[in-house]
Amino acid sequence: MTIKIVMDTDPGIDDAAALTMALNDPQIEVKLITSVAGNVTVDKTTKNAQKIVRFFNKDVPVAAGAKQPLIKEFEDAARIHGESGMPGYDFPEDLPKPLDKSAVEALHDTIMSSDEKITLVPTGSYTNIGLLFSEYPEVKDHIERIVAMGGSLGKGNMTSAAEFNVFTDPDAAKIMYQSGIPITMVGLDITMKALITPASLSKLETMNETGKMLHDIIIHDGDNSDEGIAMHDVNTIFYLLHPEAIKTQPMWVDIVTDGPAIGETVGDIRGAYHDGKTNADVCVDIDAQAFNDWFLDEVAAITKP
Ligand code: RIB
Ligand code: CA
Repeated sequence: MTIKIVMDTDPGIDDAAALTMALNDPQIEVKLITSVAGNVTVDKTTKNAQKIVRFFNKDVPVAAGAKQPLIKEFEDAARIHGESGMPGYDFPEDLPKPLDKSAVEALHDTIMSSDEKITLVPTGSYTNIGLLFSEYPEVKDHIERIVAMGGSLGKGNMTSAAEFNVFTDPDAAKIMYQSGIPITMVGLDITMKALITPASLSKLETMNETGKMLHDIIIHDGDNSDEGIAMHDVNTIFYLLHPEAIKTQPMWVDIVTDGPAIGETVGDIRGAYHDGKTNADVCVDIDAQAFNDWFLDEVAAITKP
């Protein structure tokens, strides 16, 4: 029984790595990929998603999404992901055309036509998700779970309070967290622990064609330290396949939508202020070694056609 997912992405180096895992793991069926403005503009995130699909010769549709957040001014992360969003590797240029429908239309059609509930995996800002739930609320009953990279119970990475995906579009994040759909919050609390170590990175380079491609783009990721490079978005796929390696805590999560803490995810960590109600399972710890081992094993198992 495969997990049927839709990935809503802003490739983005770590998005590209997450797409690689999702497109190639036999336990996952990617029904659709949608792009959104985030790390770079949506024309670039769309093209980057197509490059990954083409690199693996997968027959998965890509639909272009929102050009800017619902209300907040768009601010990219090109300083982290480079001007192209996915530097360092010469991908094939003969790309398949994106669907001639918007991400929201494609999400609606894919979700409503699926014979099984879909798991939504957003790894960029949640603008497309906010638009989808506003325009087509009926899709909510056809979504199994949202496994979203974003947020933090601790420090942010855009401000001391806010993580990039939520900071980019806090109003869309608020719509998502108020949707009533089960959510797994894959935030910086674990993605800044499960770093790809220098040792893992050097193994990738000589492993196979996929490892070489990932190595060549990951070494350009600005989210790095001596300990390793953060592969934030890949943690969503790791969670889907190995939830036993991640500790979660159910709690109510609110989104700050204005003021100096805009984009903060505020967790009711003691369950004291929402009558015991919760709206998310927040990832609070991860086996970082298991993540590195899994990352290498997944890539080693990929044989490109
Ligand atoms: O804060 C990390 C998130 O912002 C990741 O999704 C990364 O790709 C960027 O979009
Ligand atoms: Ca991303």
